[in-house]
Amino acid sequence: MCGIVGYVGSKNAVPILLNGLDKLEYRGYDSAGLYIMNNRNEGFVFKAKGRINALREEIDPSVQASVGIGHTRWATHGEPSAINAHPHQSFSQRFTLVHNGVIENYQEIKEQYLDETLLLSDTDTEIIVHMLAYFSEKEHLPTLDALRQTLSLLKGSYAIALIDESQPGTIFAAKNKSPLLLGKGEGFNVICSDAMAMIKETNQFVELMDKEIAIVTKDELIIENANGDSLSRDAYTAEFDSEDLEKGAYPYYMAKEIDEQPAVLRRVVQAYQTQEGNLHVDQVIVDAMLQSDRLYIIAAGTSYHAGLVGKRLFEQLSGIPTEVHVASEFGYHMPILSNNPFFIFISQSGETADSRQVLVSVNEKNYPSLTITNAVGSTLSRESTFTLLLHAGPEIAVASTKAYTAQISVMAILSEVIGLEKGVITESTMKHNLSTAAVAIQSIIESKELIEDLASKQLSLTDHAFFIGRGLDHLVALEAALKLKEISYIHTEGFAAGELKHGTIALIEKGTPIIAFVTEKTTAGHTRGNVQETIARGANTVIISMDGLSRPEDHVIIPEVHPLLTPLVSVIPAQLLAYYASLHRGNDVDKPRNLAKSVTVE
Ligand code: G6P
Repeated sequence: MCGIVGYVGSKNAVPILLNGLDKLEYRGYDSAGLYIMNNRNEGFVFKAKGRINALREEIDPSVQASVGIGHTRWATHGEPSAINAHPHQSFSQRFTLVHNGVIENYQEIKEQYLDETLLLSDTDTEIIVHMLAYFSEKEHLPTLDALRQTLSLLKGSYAIALIDESQPGTIFAAKNKSPLLLGKGEGFNVICSDAMAMIKETNQFVELMDKEIAIVTKDELIIENANGDSLSRDAYTAEFDSEDLEKGAYPYYMAKEIDEQPAVLRRVVQAYQTQEGNLHVDQVIVDAMLQSDRLYIIAAGTSYHAGLVGKRLFEQLSGIPTEVHVASEFGYHMPILSNNPFFIFISQSGETADSRQVLVSVNEKNYPSLTITNAVGSTLSRESTFTLLLHAGPEIAVASTKAYTAQISVMAILSEVIGLEKGVITESTMKHNLSTAAVAIQSIIESKELIEDLASKQLSLTDHAFFIGRGLDHLVALEAALKLKEISYIHTEGFAAGELKHGTIALIEKGTPIIAFVTEKTTAGHTRGNVQETIARGANTVIISMDGLSRPEDHVIIPEVHPLLTPLVSVIPAQLLAYYASLHRGNDVDKPRNLAKSVTVE
């Protein structure tokens, strides 16, 4: 969480940094700050609680700067406030620093070195800047050595950018576990947590690796390892279009991203086919998976929900037993593994710390792994054995939509390719199935007014809502509930319809919304029975059913698709219900309270 940017060059740094922070707001948006130095080497700090626009208002428009660093925060230690906002400064104001990550031993460091010091903020970050001052001012170390000494004390995760007032025109950067990129330009250089932040300035980026330090000036990017040896590393070209980062005519990114899903499905199919049009996945990945006796899918949030669907695909199409685990649980409570495990990390951002800590131990044990991600060059992608990309384009809204459908689509293709090779299935139908699903998604999107109406009738005022379903419908109910609760703040649960009578039915009262998915032939009758039980207790019900199983009184009817791909389509009305519920309740749809899109702390 938290996003950091830095610029050094001859243009005015202020708008560049602010624009960069706008693009990083998905990483946290409870407060923001900037430190800039003007051409007379005078430093200025600006901070504000709230969004980047609040910070904009704090900034003296006459200030011009050629170097600066900025930060947008997702609070871990200390409430959102201007005082806790970054940058933090040493008391002499010589050192100014922004940080993304968590310093786990900040209390110990404070007790050992800064016992007498009265810290200004409640953050874990502030000690870093005081330790820099300690080593450089008390122990007289040069800045780089003071930085090295300081970093050697830190336990936890960090991406930091530092300016030493006595070395104007230089940004020092370092990282461990949290991502940091260096961007190369002509006559300027930048740093950022994500290439999106600086894509307007450059598309040439160099990754900084754990424990490395970078010294960034307008003409040079120097990378050193922890021992101070210089390293050379080529830049890569970041390949997204800055247009993709704009909302266009849409009021919110989430609305745009929901609408993009048919195109995303088509793009996924295109990316995973040969010139002859046959579905194809890199043979080394297929071979590695064929050697495995059990797949372990590791993920968090929406990606975990996609993983649950993935299990059905891998078991039914590839014939490989598959387990799905929440990353934050798996890492510290690993079950007994099979003889030849193969790990699949599903992560839109490729940066989720919970998933990464599992990957670190998977790598220690030398197990093969695949990351399915939207982010080229992300930490999970770099550190796993193989990567498959989602090709979903940047997903900006915190509530994930198109990444979920892309993740399922990629797994559908992968599972079919493996199943064909293994002989579990004999016919390739997935390309056709996915294109049918894309058409079905489009038809739901085209009837969004109907769903807006349902949201306004059922979800404008309620405090609780429940999604139910069986089989794959249960898995979609989990995702639907997450979507609704995270952006509407309605308390929502998704659960297996059959479990209703075992407890949750006690919560049903007059007017409680119950939204049921009915797309599975074998259990449709049972789920409808469960719906009746809630109606008998006063619930307001909404039924989302699939053509062929639908009844005239159902509220949303999705076109028939392959039985393993129903989540791709039934999730769309749920995404739209969540979107409109959030909108009607007056929430910021894209930036729900307390959340961040990229969760880089455990
Ligand atoms: C956060 C986001 C969710 C996302 C989850 C996992 O909680 O708000 O939308 O599903 O992280 O993120 P990942 O990038 O690993 O898919």
